Amino acid sequence: MTIKPKVFELQTDRLLLRPWRSEDFPLFAQMNADPEVMAYYPSVLNNDESNALAHKFSSLLLNQSWGFWAVEHMDRSEFIGFVGLHKPQYHLPVSPCIEIGWRLAKEYWGNGYATEAAFASLYFAFEQLNLAQVYAFTPVANQKSWSVMQRLGMENTQNNFKHPMIPKHHTLAEHLLYKINKQQYHITAKESLFRVSIKNV
Ligand SMILES: CC(C)(COP(=O)(O)OP(=O)(O)OC[C@H]1O[C@@H](n2cnc3c(N)ncnc32)[C@H](O)[C@@H]1OP(=O)(O)O)[C@@H](O)C(=O)NCCC(=O)NCCS
Repeated sequence: MTIKPKVFELQTDRLLLRPWRSEDFPLFAQMNADPEVMAYYPSVLNNDESNALAHKFSSLLLNQSWGFWAVEHMDRSEFIGFVGLHKPQYHLPVSPCIEIGWRLAKEYWGNGYATEAAFASLYFAFEQLNLAQVYAFTPVANQKSWSVMQRLGMENTQNNFKHPMIPKHHTLAEHLLYKINKQQYHITAKESLFRVSIKNV
């Protein structure tokens, strides 16, 4: 009998990063159908594509015990999107690597939620998984996303690359590559007011 690892949940002052639930799926589909949320992806997702992605993130999280967590706003008990850590399956200039990523429904932008949840993910990456570094990448034009990277104290490696899953001449192909190591993370942790707790559920 194979024993599955327990899933880690991360909690901050306002947010819970937890396993996916079936009731998250329709809300995830709504955000993936929103052209503003998907402005820096090749296209919006239809219902089936969104559900397939949620299933993928959910099973990776359950099998690995960490991954792209469903993020819940605790006071409002609402699913607001996903944030977390992921092993990209395609080849990147820094492969093999662990990336940090995020996508929130538009109504939750502008409150610091992405940075708060991402900080919790970095806490997990460095204090629990003991990683040496974490990468993040985004199309050059996605200022909101690279602003999160900068708020986390990540460093622009200046090694822009063409994303292998996007056609070479597409306007979204060129990506910025950011990186944070344990020492840089400790500086962010010291300067920030974020509190994180980890639970094994
Ligand atoms: C990328 C994304 C997650 C960023 O969201 P965001 O709301 O800009 O980022 P945060 O949640 O960290 O919020 C930061 C903003 O909240 C403001 N804010 C308000 N209250 C705050 C608080 N209590 N604490 C911290 N910041 C707060 C900050 O000043 C900042 O505003 P600014 O952008 O005007 O400077 C969001 O735009 C998104 O989901 N985009 C679509 C998906 C996507 O592109 N993902 C990345 C693909 S690579």
